[in-house]
Amino acid sequence: MSEIRICGYRPLSGEINVQGSKNGVLPMLAASLLQCGTMRFTNVPIIQDVACMVGILESVGCRCRFQGSRLSIDASRVIKTAIPQEDVKKMRSSILVMGALLGRTGEAAAWYPGGCSIGSRPVDLHLLAFSRLGAGVEEEEGRIRARGRLRGGEIVFPFPSVGATENALLAAVLAPGETVIFGAAREPEIITLCQLLRQMGAVIAGEGTERIQIKGVSRLYETEYAVPGDRIAAGTYLAAVTAAGGQAVLWGAPWESMGAVTETLCRCGACIEPLPGEGGRILGARILMEGRPRPVRLQTGPYPEFPTDLQSPMLAVLSLAEGESRLRENVFEARFKTAAELKKMGADITVSGNQAVIQGKEGLSGARVRAWDLRGGAALVAAALAARGETVIEDCIHIERGYEDICRDVQCLHGDIRWSA
Ligand code: EPZ
Repeated sequence: MSEIRICGYRPLSGEINVQGSKNGVLPMLAASLLQCGTMRFTNVPIIQDVACMVGILESVGCRCRFQGSRLSIDASRVIKTAIPQEDVKKMRSSILVMGALLGRTGEAAAWYPGGCSIGSRPVDLHLLAFSRLGAGVEEEEGRIRARGRLRGGEIVFPFPSVGATENALLAAVLAPGETVIFGAAREPEIITLCQLLRQMGAVIAGEGTERIQIKGVSRLYETEYAVPGDRIAAGTYLAAVTAAGGQAVLWGAPWESMGAVTETLCRCGACIEPLPGEGGRILGARILMEGRPRPVRLQTGPYPEFPTDLQSPMLAVLSLAEGESRLRENVFEARFKTAAELKKMGADITVSGNQAVIQGKEGLSGARVRAWDLRGGAALVAAALAARGETVIEDCIHIERGYEDICRDVQCLHGDIRWSA
């Protein structure tokens, strides 16, 4: 399995070009199925999850072509409406293809993605959305099938699920009549998906609020789209500098969607500011961190609250803070697995239910640790950069799912880090 070796305890310094957004691009690639031409994306992150999504699109008939970070998807021929089980098991967000297939062909089949190390992660709200749009939904031995001529309807989500909101949008844009989604997710990834769909000819209003209205249209058209910077990858590197100390410039960090993250890290003592460009544009973020982080009380929640995806990197930061911090995880029921790995490095973290109490330590020590999930692995990189001695992180395959090359990026900050197996 792939391992990363890090020698820490030295301040970071340098510049990173932030990769394209994993959670932004995945629903956009699924949206390609809703038109019969060729979609063209730029700034696409070269990561395992994108490769998996491209594989799924090709398995249903699309022809995809990568040129560097440019990806074209010819969806003129869609010949299948079932998503292979192995792809669903590999990547949960493959379920997003269901909504697009249902919208385009009137039928779609997939499998229950199953849980992972951060929680059970059911898809009941996705299936609720399909039913509310008139599809018949059958579940049998782990297999899900949805079919029917969709029509507009009212969808009410009891929780602002990101994926279920995306699937509802993908299914509704071609459904005759009006659809209203109540309790919609407000994440930036919803906003960029709606921007893309509108560029394709969809009629949508209200994205970024909890009420989104869609008027079904008869056809959608090919377009080009530049994938925005990944706010979670950018937040990961801001957390790494806050933990290890030093300074960094993150070109392409989506400043406007990182408010809760930058505000929290500033409370920890980091000095973070936007990189101004011409005409009032913001080109990224700059961070300076000296001394140990200050402790904070923090909880995760749906956007615009603090993102659950940066909860584990924050555990790493607060493990070094000057005092006691408390962190409550309100989105996933099992997302503290990385605490046990941080404790191997000397962190003092007590987890009880969905709350962690962290007694900050002056320093952490290098150790052999394991990445249990994507963001947990990234948190271990941040902790190792601040720790004395060498850390070896095992099972880094998880990290490769969402970060183009975390070693390359940290080396840009002059961190002593390399892939080792
Ligand atoms: C998306 O996952 C992201 N993934 C996750 O990022 C992110 O953590 C999550 O949103 C929350 O922001 C992608 O965008 C590909 P949810 P998603 O549906 O859509 C429950 C990463 O590290 N729920 O908003 O699966 C669910 O169990 C990944 O990049 C239901 O109960 O998240 C969870 O407790 C990890 N029924 C909560 O809602 C459903 O039908 C939030 O899940 C769907 C979700």
